[in-house]
Amino acid sequence: MTAEAATAPAVNETTRRAQESTVLSPRFYTTDVDALERVDVGGVRADWDDLMAEMRADPNKGHFVRTAEWDADLDRIPPPLRREFLDFLVSSVTAEFSGCVLYAEIKKRIKNPELRELFRYMSRDEARHAGFINDTLKDFDVAVDLGFLTKSKQYTFFAPKFIYYATYLSEKIGYARYITIYRHLQRHPEHRFHPIFKWFEQWCNDEFRHGEAFALLMRAEPRLLTGYNRWWIRFFLCAVFATMYVRDHARPAFHDALGVDPTEYDFQVFRITSEISKQVFPFTLALDDPRFFAKLETLKGLSQAIAAAGAAGGPWNRLKRLALTGRAGLTFAGLYLLPVNPHHTPDQVRLAPAW
Ligand SMILES: [Fe+2]
Ligand SMILES: [Fe+2]
Repeated sequence: MTAEAATAPAVNETTRRAQESTVLSPRFYTTDVDALERVDVGGVRADWDDLMAEMRADPNKGHFVRTAEWDADLDRIPPPLRREFLDFLVSSVTAEFSGCVLYAEIKKRIKNPELRELFRYMSRDEARHAGFINDTLKDFDVAVDLGFLTKSKQYTFFAPKFIYYATYLSEKIGYARYITIYRHLQRHPEHRFHPIFKWFEQWCNDEFRHGEAFALLMRAEPRLLTGYNRWWIRFFLCAVFATMYVRDHARPAFHDALGVDPTEYDFQVFRITSEISKQVFPFTLALDDPRFFAKLETLKGLSQAIAAAGAAGGPWNRLKRLALTGRAGLTFAGLYLLPVNPHHTPDQVRLAPAW
């Protein structure tokens, strides 16, 4: 045992999984706060003030409170579903907490009063979301040690514009995912195997507002949406959609229990996100192009083969993994280069969810 391992605190399996840095796992970010000081929201003043008023009013203040429904017996959830549900919760708590850590760090260091206020509200919301999911993990005796995670997880540095693209998308996708599951379970309550899904409706409005804030920050600096930045937007759209597709298809028992086909569910989320993203992005991905679906399917298959080779171990499988990873890179490049649906005039920011 190394000295480091001997002194490392004992953490549980879910904390270790949340700590992992893989292509598919949610990351923690830092950014250049000095560059954010210079942001001027004067150009989007009216929309900004409306959004800040809504966030200040804190409509979800009393929402994240558990009820008697949460005392249900969790042992009735069979093992394969239990494993995938916990995987879903760990991935969700990591993503929520990632937002909390980034927004809290910006709020702590920034002096620009407008952004300071925004990041205070967003870190408040994400702390609530992460805490609420972690309480559910606690019921299963597998809560993630969020304090340990803050100190031990690897941080990725992104310049502010990349934070905008990535975070805008993950907030809007978060909104689309929560509302799609919520609406589906409203129609099919027999598939609601855990009470947490009932909280998704108001929860998703927080994510919607967070996405609106990033939309306004981008509209305040329109050069981020034109020229060569279009290629970055395309990259983030492809990366975020492909990651979601691969990750969701790794949880068949979870989607089966929800009565959801993961392909249909993911395309519904892509469509909602694409539609919303017209408010800022000058194009959308061609979701109906059969090559788009085919490339996602190839990436899914390659990801499964990479995981299988990794689990098998040995020099031959290491080599195989390398070759498969190269193929995944090429497939992703093919996805990235597919034609897009061009030129929407960015709509006005909507302050009320349209779905
Ligand atoms: Fe959140
Ligand atoms: Fe959020």
